Amino acid sequence: MNTLMLSSDNEDIGKAAEIIKRGGIVAIPTETVYGLAADALNGDAVRKIFKAKGRPMDNPLIVHISDISQIYSLVREFPRKAEILAEKFWPGPLTIILPKSDIIPDEVSAGLDTVAIRFPSHKTAQKLITLSSPLAAPSANLSGSPSPTTLRHVYDDMNGRADAIIDGGDCEVGVESTVITLAQDIPALLRPGGITAEQLRSAIGEIKVANAVTQPLGDGERAASPGMKYKHYSPKAEVILLDGENDEFYGYINGIKDRNAAVLCYTEDMENIELPCIPIGKKYDYSEQAHLLFAALRKADEMGFDTVYARCPGKKGVGLAVYNRIIRAAGFNIISLKGAEKK
Ligand code: TXA
Ligand code: MG
Repeated sequence: MNTLMLSSDNEDIGKAAEIIKRGGIVAIPTETVYGLAADALNGDAVRKIFKAKGRPMDNPLIVHISDISQIYSLVREFPRKAEILAEKFWPGPLTIILPKSDIIPDEVSAGLDTVAIRFPSHKTAQKLITLSSPLAAPSANLSGSPSPTTLRHVYDDMNGRADAIIDGGDCEVGVESTVITLAQDIPALLRPGGITAEQLRSAIGEIKVANAVTQPLGDGERAASPGMKYKHYSPKAEVILLDGENDEFYGYINGIKDRNAAVLCYTEDMENIELPCIPIGKKYDYSEQAHLLFAALRKADEMGFDTVYARCPGKKGVGLAVYNRIIRAAGFNIISLKGAEKK
């Protein structure tokens, strides 16, 4: 397939809208990560997304809207808590799961009775939706790899697989949207992102955080969000997380001699580390870490490293999203350095 490269000017967005209306798939920029979009109400078009990504058909997609009024035909219920979240956080990096209406094709909801809805703030995405239709769009990476946050990442994964790619610059947030389900009595955070658990609680009160956010699923345990059960965000290199204080971390890292390894570290760490460093921002700047994380994981592969060591990040605010992605990239492989002998 020949992939058309488009800009974010009006004429090119118009061309992308025509492709969507004809049942094609287009990689689009959003404020979180790039998405691979199709007309959400066209099951055949949506099927092409799964094929292009190599995505299992039992993993449902998010439907993107560009105006709140579009939600009423997509869901059966729009409860007060959803309204509050929509008023406060849309457009923005929040996805809300609600009981679905009959017009949602099975391909989108993967046979569930619910649908995930998001109103992105990226202007290009909004214009395209307005000109075409609500768009079903997962992240535009090959299934399993880190989500694309730059045009080049999308090109690397989707050239030859998507009908077109729209250039919208680098993604601001850098990790996928926060996913919350309101299709149950007590709302639950299924995936942390740019809108934090703290912000959600201050808006609607009690929410649970799904176990799968911070832990591997146990044998036979069912994922509330099917995406949680798959290995995710992994570069080709093996990722190993190190949990410890500065001295313990530096001591361990500087003792490594037998691996072709790089270190994902905070900018403050760099002068203390002898291995090659890929910085992901300052220690307490979780937003910067979210912004840089996926690019850093891809960079480790581009630079040809076999192993990537990373610090176990904090879990507050947007830090929880960074933690959630990095433990999956590491396949939950965490070495605790606490109390280990210091160098
Ligand atoms: O920021 C984002 O959300 C990006 C951009 C493109 O908008 N999209 C994205 O989509 O990350 P995707 O498909 O990579 O992740 C969607 C997640 C998956 O973990 C999926 O299992 C979950 O949301 N999900 C979708 N619909 C669901 C539903 N009805 N119930 C439970 N989980 C659902
Ligand atoms: Mg994804």
